[in-house]
Amino acid sequence: MKRCYWVVFVVVGCAGGPVLPPEPTAAMAATSGTEIARLEKGHEVFMANCLRCHEAMMPEDLSREDWHVVVPGMSWNAGISEADEEVLTAYILAAR
Ligand code: HEC
Repeated sequence: MKRCYWVVFVVVGCAGGPVLPPEPTAAMAATSGTEIARLEKGHEVFMANCLRCHEAMMPEDLSREDWHVVVPGMSWNAGISEADEEVLTAYILAAR
């Protein structure tokens, strides 16, 4: 008797990979009134420091008020400088 075996590969949970915060755009710079260079620095700070302990928290996940409370605490967690904390906050609020 002849048998056929079907091998089925199931790819679990890899669609698109981890969700990452958006790249700064000219539109973000325009609406927030923050220079794009600062937003790019803030984005870099985020990528380098905010993905170590947990998945990325998206700018739209929290209200502006909540970000003002969370960023100082998380910056302390991440051990980043005050200057980095400033550009990070500017980036997150602009990206919202
Ligand atoms: C040293 C580990 C660590 C680093 C680095 C870190 N976090 Fe967190 N983060 C945590 C832990 C633990 C929690 C959950 C407990 C809490 O809310 O304190 C959390 C929670 C959060 C929350 C949810 C808070 C809420 O109240 O809903 C946000 C948003 C967040 N982190 C953003 C960030 C950002 C932005 C950075 C980069 C500056 C960052 N985290 C870096 C450990 C870290």
